[in-house]
Amino acid sequence: MNVLHVCANPKPTEESVSKQLAAAFFGKLIELKPEVELVNVDLYDEKPPFYSYELYRAAWYPVYQEGYELSKVEEMSMNYASKQAELFNDADVLVLTMPMWNYSVPAIMKAWMDQILCPGLTFDISKEEGVKGLHQIKSVVLLVASGGVYMEDDPRDALTRQVRHSFGLIGINDIEIVWADGQNPLFFIDGEDRKAMALEAATEIAEDVAELDLSPAAEEVSVD
Ligand SMILES: Cc1cc2nc3c(=O)[nH]c(=O)nc-3n(C[C@H](O)[C@H](O)[C@H](O)COP(=O)(O)O)c2cc1C
Repeated sequence: MNVLHVCANPKPTEESVSKQLAAAFFGKLIELKPEVELVNVDLYDEKPPFYSYELYRAAWYPVYQEGYELSKVEEMSMNYASKQAELFNDADVLVLTMPMWNYSVPAIMKAWMDQILCPGLTFDISKEEGVKGLHQIKSVVLLVASGGVYMEDDPRDALTRQVRHSFGLIGINDIEIVWADGQNPLFFIDGEDRKAMALEAATEIAEDVAELDLSPAAEEVSVD
């Protein structure tokens, strides 16, 4: 099983609840499945560039204009996206670790998504066939921490919607979420309990991921 872990959090683990969720998740997963091939991408070490006009042309002109040939500059603008897409396409499971910032994913995570969710790299798109994923990812595990508390379908929550819809577009519909909410001690006295529950949930999801059926015959695999 190949697991790609993309982390968008500049804090050290001892100060970051989402990174502690990741430590619990991977501790359990590797205990149960030591043969897991884990690739870690720390976005603060491998910073994605912001989307450029050259990348827009490189990604989308070939979709709209048959036979379009990329210029050297356009080719070069795809360097980061191509490298990350290779890691993405090799993965069976994608794990995303991040805090909630301004109700959404941190900008550095959004920039990474803008890079890799690119036609010709992680999906193909055409009028006839719509969107077809080029990856083999069966499941996305989202490990998140927030200061506030959010009800299910809370309209303020742009983070889980962003992840769900962006990966859903390319055919990944199994999204497992572990959310340590209420981490702002000024407003929530039960933050530690919420964190303990989330850490427990992270190990349970790891148990489910360890059981994932990765055989090509497995249709619509779910870690439920
Ligand atoms: C720039 C910034 C923006 C934040 N925005 C929100 C927010 O919109 N909603 C929320 O509930 N918490 C917000 N928080 C609080 C963090 O989500 C919270 O501290 C969380 O525990 C961070 O995760 P970490 O411990 O893994 O770093 C924000 C924190 C920072 C630094």
